[in-house]
Amino acid sequence: MRTIIAGNWKMNKTIAEAVDFANRLREKLAGKTGIPEVIVAPPFTALNPVSVVLRGSAVLVAAQNIHEADHGAFTGEVSALMAREAGCTYAIIGHSERRTLFGERDERINKKLSAALAAGLHPILCIGETLQEREENQTERVIERQLNEGLNNLGNDDIEKIIVAYEPVWAIGTGKTATPSQAQEVHRFIRGWLAKRCSGELSQQTVILYGGSVTPQNAGALMSQPDINGALIGGASLDVESFVRIIEYQFTQGV
Ligand code: 13P
Repeated sequence: MRTIIAGNWKMNKTIAEAVDFANRLREKLAGKTGIPEVIVAPPFTALNPVSVVLRGSAVLVAAQNIHEADHGAFTGEVSALMAREAGCTYAIIGHSERRTLFGERDERINKKLSAALAAGLHPILCIGETLQEREENQTERVIERQLNEGLNNLGNDDIEKIIVAYEPVWAIGTGKTATPSQAQEVHRFIRGWLAKRCSGELSQQTVILYGGSVTPQNAGALMSQPDINGALIGGASLDVESFVRIIEYQFTQGV
């Protein structure tokens, strides 16, 4: 099973800062073996400069969002093809900040997934419940709806290209991480959904990341859960030292 560590920089870093980070990350990871696959998601302005720095390294680049249309009068938006051309292999889709701050709903996220796949990007689909939904015992219902509607009409050959990221909204940027067993429970539910909707094989092969206040201190315990295949990291991915400590979690546990 693959393991992936992905850093979502959100609206942080100028081009100069992003390029400096990419150079240092490249240097620190050069020649390292036995580490997870690594992805960084810079803001749009830095996508191409970062891709150029990382070309030929093992680190791949993701867009933080894309528009569902190929081109047209959509002021301020960027298409999947544009992101691909800028050097992206992946696109984060349906991040909770897009859902809550920019009104993206499951139907739109479904269109964005199709657009990303059509452009040859691998989507990282983010799903997760709010605190209120968790307290009302709605977690599985919300996850099920986000999967049903987000992946609506997509066949197994598309779904096998998708990475799922479980990011409980109450754990994002709050310092409140889901406990390893809370996260594992939802990850197992997601894998079970994939087994029913797609196939047992596809469900076993799908990478399911956890996101929400992941740090070098808690990464190892989260990653030791059987259905957690990596992490999507916000705050702790902005500093190259802390990001590398998470990438090397299996060597630095307890340090
Ligand atoms: P934090 O790691 O800052 O909680 O952010 C998580 C996240 O939203 C990653 O996409």
